[in-house]
Amino acid sequence: MNSNLPIDLNSQNLPHHVAVIMDGNGRWATQQKLPRIAGHRQGARTLKELLRCSKDWGIKILTAYAFSTENWRRPTEEVDFLMILFEKMLRRELEEMHREGVRINFVGDLSALPKSLQNEMQRSMLETSNNRDIQFNVAVNYGSRKEIVSACRQLAELVQKGEIKPEDISEDLIEKNLYTVDIPAPDLLIRTSGEKRLSNFLLWQMAYTEMYFTDTLWPDFDQAAFQQALISYQNRERRFGKVKAVLSA
Ligand code: IPE
Ligand code: IPE
Ligand code: MG
Repeated sequence: MNSNLPIDLNSQNLPHHVAVIMDGNGRWATQQKLPRIAGHRQGARTLKELLRCSKDWGIKILTAYAFSTENWRRPTEEVDFLMILFEKMLRRELEEMHREGVRINFVGDLSALPKSLQNEMQRSMLETSNNRDIQFNVAVNYGSRKEIVSACRQLAELVQKGEIKPEDISEDLIEKNLYTVDIPAPDLLIRTSGEKRLSNFLLWQMAYTEMYFTDTLWPDFDQAAFQQALISYQNRERRFGKVKAVLSA
């Protein structure tokens, strides 16, 4: 098992679920004197490498933020390019991902996406649903606030129909109505490009997630950079509100 794991990483203390805010594609492209879209293209390659590396190292869930509910505010040409890129990548990579035991899943309000992309997403989720090597969640048209509002509405409807009582609403029930139903919370969040904010990503789910911020721009986030993030994670003590673990004599 994960024989490829770098020796400075402890296989017993890997995050089960890693989430990434892939930021800095535009700045990377500008630095190279290329149009922003070239950064997105390179960013997609980086994601593919990260997925492979995560799987090889024994990480069981990888969640990537690909497009936020706020990203519609970008120039139409950039939004259109991204939608086409998502669809192209899916068509091109699905077979290999399936062969590699990747279970692909999309989170977000998919209904607002181009129909052909939605079809491709549904097909890929269905086709890979029995794969167990790694779960790969891609957040597209994802916004945490929208997700929470949607959960509230679903629960309000159940109350209105008399199927549940207000006092039945629990943390567990809210979680069951989020897009991330059945996905455990991320253990580690990585955000690239030097920004230190969540930008509406997994707000509920990341209540106790460890955060790692790096100045590296997403297209440059390679295996060594990922290794650094995991080393940082392994040097932390997660307390979940408890006091520091005392070693017994
Ligand atoms: C992240 O890179 C990719 C998406 C949001 C789709 P950006 O496009 O935000 O890159 P910067 O932040 O402008 O450099
Ligand atoms: C967050 O990046 C969204 C994704 C990476 C998909 P942004 O570049 O959109 O975030 P802000 O606008 O800098 O907060
Ligand atoms: Mg950005």
